[in-house]
Amino acid sequence: MRPASASEPPASRPRRALLSLRARLARPTFDAPEVYGSAAVANIVRALPLVERAYSRIRFSILRPKLLSVMDLLLTDEGRILDVGCGFGLFAAYFGQTQPRRRIVGLDPDARRIGLARRVAEQLGLRDHTFAVGDIRDAPLEGPFDAAYVLDVMHHLPPEDQRRVLERLRDALVPGGVLLVKDITTEPLFGLLFTEALDRLMIGFDEPLAYRHHREWGEMLTELGFRVRMVRVPDILPYPHVVIAATKTR
Ligand SMILES: C[S@@+](CC[C@H](N)C(=O)[O-])C[C@H]1O[C@@H](n2cnc3c(N)ncnc32)[C@H](O)[C@@H]1O
Repeated sequence: MRPASASEPPASRPRRALLSLRARLARPTFDAPEVYGSAAVANIVRALPLVERAYSRIRFSILRPKLLSVMDLLLTDEGRILDVGCGFGLFAAYFGQTQPRRRIVGLDPDARRIGLARRVAEQLGLRDHTFAVGDIRDAPLEGPFDAAYVLDVMHHLPPEDQRRVLERLRDALVPGGVLLVKDITTEPLFGLLFTEALDRLMIGFDEPLAYRHHREWGEMLTELGFRVRMVRVPDILPYPHVVIAATKTR
């Protein structure tokens, strides 16, 4: 489009009315306003009971605005999006507030967490979000999904199940759909040991923890037919965060 210049004659009144109508029609309309950053986080924290409030503050201090913004931009801004291992639905509530046309479907084996995720979504007016109790290894996935994300969940799955889960997610996506994996990579070693110690504090010693180097995730996803891009996101704490955006190509 040619930029307007000061020498151009002013638009006539009917033309101005037409331009203004066109601009209004072109502007997207949302049911709810978009809310970002600390305002979005504050809404989520307020919607939770006391104990979970404390947990969610910690969780949002680990997944800082920088990390959230990277993921927010990589996710489609509308359509059906699967949140694998959604927990209390903290990130469904965050990504639902930043782009209210996202319809997020949360899945987690923990029924109490799913109950809280429903409560948070309801309190924030995210009416199109749905949550189900289930294990990503065998739960029925009612696809297709425009995108899916797995935030700090892959390393909680037994290593022998991880590839099969990624395969299931690929099959549930539309062609060109994005699978976003946020996880912890295995270098530097100090970062890994730091993360593992905190994970063990949360889950004890009976559950599996199977971290992989980000290159390994990349190779696995490529073999499964994804085009893969990844970034390591530095933190003031020594978490070795990695964000992997895998686009389904076949
Ligand atoms: C570290 S929490 C992360 C929760 C949430 N994604 C977040 O980032 O706050 C790991 C979550 O994965 C869930 N999870 C563990 N195994 C799973 C499985 N097989 N299928 C689906 N979710 C699983 C747990 O119940 C837990 O809520």
